[in-house]
Amino acid sequence: MRVFKSEEIGRKGDDFDKSYVSSDFLNQAMDELLKSMVNKKGTDEIVELFGRKAFSYPKNELLLQRIIEYTTRPGDIVLDFFLGSGTTAAVAHKMGRQYIGIEQMDYIETIPVERLKKVIAGEQGGISKAVNWLGGGDFIYCELMKYNEAFMDRIQAAQDSEELLQIWRDMAEGSFLNWYVNPQMPEEAIRDFEALGKGPNGLEKQKRLLAGLLDKNQLYVHLSEIDDAQFKVSEEEKALNRAFYGE
Ligand SMILES: C[S@@+](CC[C@H](N)C(=O)[O-])C[C@H]1O[C@@H](n2cnc3c(N)ncnc32)[C@H](O)[C@@H]1O
Repeated sequence: MRVFKSEEIGRKGDDFDKSYVSSDFLNQAMDELLKSMVNKKGTDEIVELFGRKAFSYPKNELLLQRIIEYTTRPGDIVLDFFLGSGTTAAVAHKMGRQYIGIEQMDYIETIPVERLKKVIAGEQGGISKAVNWLGGGDFIYCELMKYNEAFMDRIQAAQDSEELLQIWRDMAEGSFLNWYVNPQMPEEAIRDFEALGKGPNGLEKQKRLLAGLLDKNQLYVHLSEIDDAQFKVSEEEKALNRAFYGE
């Protein structure tokens, strides 16, 4: 978006569109946005949707409506790489924009994905009445393919030292370890690991130690590795990725 002084906009005449805004307009827009930034309203909307305060400090729909209105046209793609409770995606959907949302936490399934299903079903909270929202449309939800993250899940779920030792063996065989980790699992290291498990908070300390061995840059399968047989990516998954990246 390019910003011009008002007199320059005047000279632009018919070319004026949302890519060219005046500084006066921007000042007015900022005033409007500041007035809409009431978190309590966002919390009320979430309570209405889920019957409880399912998310801390959600944005309210009116705020996102204004931002999307100022910066996009119908059909444009709105990217929210911190999806949270999904206000941006819900508003983009109701306003006829396409959208991509990214979220790291498990609550993506119970909060934003459920919220978008309600939007499609025609929920009437937030900006729905203002934009005459009647429901419709669709979205797809995908998870990144886990690699080291699958070992992280197993470590977190482990119940005892024995199980952790087996996970360590599996990691030595089939995970990406940090470059400084010896994949051979020397006897001495195993003895130290077992001794750690017998001390105070032993299981937690063992879990932290194992998690520390894993290379966190390899938590998920990289797109560039999609054809590597060891990751066992199905043809269907490959096709979905190609469609997404427009290949
Ligand atoms: C306050 S919320 C954002 C609200 C959201 N933009 C909306 O429209 O309602 C921030 C979210 O970003 C997520 N997050 C933070 N760092 C992230 C990352 N590196 N990758 C993915 N999600 C992330 C957090 O888990 C949290 O749910």
